[in-house]
Amino acid sequence: MAIIGCGTSLNAGETIASTFSRLGATPTSLVVASESQGTVLEDDTLVIAMSQSGETADVLRAIDDLNLRHGHLVAITNTAHSSLARRADVVLDRLAGEEIGVAATKTFTAQVVTGITFAISALHARGTVPRSIVLRLLNELYELPDHIEQAISAAESAVPSVLDSLSEHSGMLLLGRGTGVPYAREGALKIKELTYRWAEAFPAGGLKHGPLALIEKGTPVIVVDHSDPRLPRNIAEVQARGANVLRIGGAGSNIPAVADATLNNLGRQLWGPLEAAVPLQVISRLLARRLGTEVDRPRNLAKAVTVE
Ligand code: G6P
Repeated sequence: MAIIGCGTSLNAGETIASTFSRLGATPTSLVVASESQGTVLEDDTLVIAMSQSGETADVLRAIDDLNLRHGHLVAITNTAHSSLARRADVVLDRLAGEEIGVAATKTFTAQVVTGITFAISALHARGTVPRSIVLRLLNELYELPDHIEQAISAAESAVPSVLDSLSEHSGMLLLGRGTGVPYAREGALKIKELTYRWAEAFPAGGLKHGPLALIEKGTPVIVVDHSDPRLPRNIAEVQARGANVLRIGGAGSNIPAVADATLNNLGRQLWGPLEAAVPLQVISRLLARRLGTEVDRPRNLAKAVTVE
């Protein structure tokens, strides 16, 4: 299987790839659409193309380049009559409703949910995942709207008090581990798009391979903390260099927005802490308003990117 996309859609695709590989041991590759030239897929590879607009030129070009002779194309899009949908064998509509702001927010969460439900049902239909596990995962998905609401209120009450320290610095790092990494990447993208500040996401285990050099006294470091046991050591590493750590996690963290922040939650181990995406969106929006940047129409960006 291969999952293709750009920007936010690629980040969502990473959570879906993780679900396919961790739940079904399905070999899955993630293809950055703008860099797809030279990618070779085996015959019969199922390709999932992710694009909220369905008009992203890089994605359409990648599909042509991949030359899907024997494979099938599934489109996960928010625009069921788009150019991407017309090329696909199967269209999964995210049904997120129209999104006005250029930066994808509700279409991100909707495409993650659409993709993971597709993964669960496909793997069950193939006989890879037993019904008991499917029911357990569906129960976790049913709880998701409540968890997202709790995450919104936790973020709205906690974020205003950290805006001063975030705005004092020219940029920030975002860290995650395991299934938390795509959410750190998505948070960094949202912060860049809305605030025009640099924000770089790294797998926390990679700090020692370079990014640690960026840390100085007061550097903001936002951690997507879904209780991966390896994270405390990484947090200690940046704190020892003076970083100002902001944890988005369970009870006791700066933004207590990750429900049941234990790895007993099976979805956490497959697609990660989806509700953590929301506080990152709230941070981006409130920081942008503090800095006076245009939240709905960021400079230099377009909602549908129809040029390569
Ligand atoms: C642009 C936007 C991103 C978006 C990406 C993919 O780069 O700035 O925010 O994620 O396009 O858009 P799509 O419509 O394909 O999801």
